[in-house]
Amino acid sequence: MLPMSSNRDSLIHSAIAAREHAHAPFSQFKVGAALEKAGAHGSEATVFTGCNVENATYGLTICAERVAVFKAISEGATHFTRIAIAADTGSLTPPCGACRQILWEFCGNLEIILTNLHGKSETLRLADIFPRPFDSSFL
Ligand code: THU
Repeated sequence: MLPMSSNRDSLIHSAIAAREHAHAPFSQFKVGAALEKAGAHGSEATVFTGCNVENATYGLTICAERVAVFKAISEGATHFTRIAIAADTGSLTPPCGACRQILWEFCGNLEIILTNLHGKSETLRLADIFPRPFDSSFL
């Protein structure tokens, strides 16, 4: 958990920095994520970072986004404002289906900032890339 000033560029920077820790010996595809929790009453925002962590069984691999969410939840954090996701691709890398489901569960209609390593970025809303989600409202 990193207390930090809440601006878009620093969130992107945190995602790019987290990507450096990726354990991706099988795909060589490194991803970083930085999930922001807004500060209460003008206090500093908190950022939880994650990277993808692969496993020789492949199926146990976990994506950067889920690592960031689970780190945050495990530290008692709630009420997230946005997530930055960084990968080294020309066409910006979006979260996978499993991560969209997890982001919806814990973050709702989160703002998503996709970025690459060369200054290209785009801002989306989760609902735009995850229409008609299944969630606890159906249970
Ligand atoms: N990956 C992520 O960490 N996040 C994404 O948004 C897309 C995919 C990882 C999983 C795996 O380690 C590698 O990228 C290739 O799929």
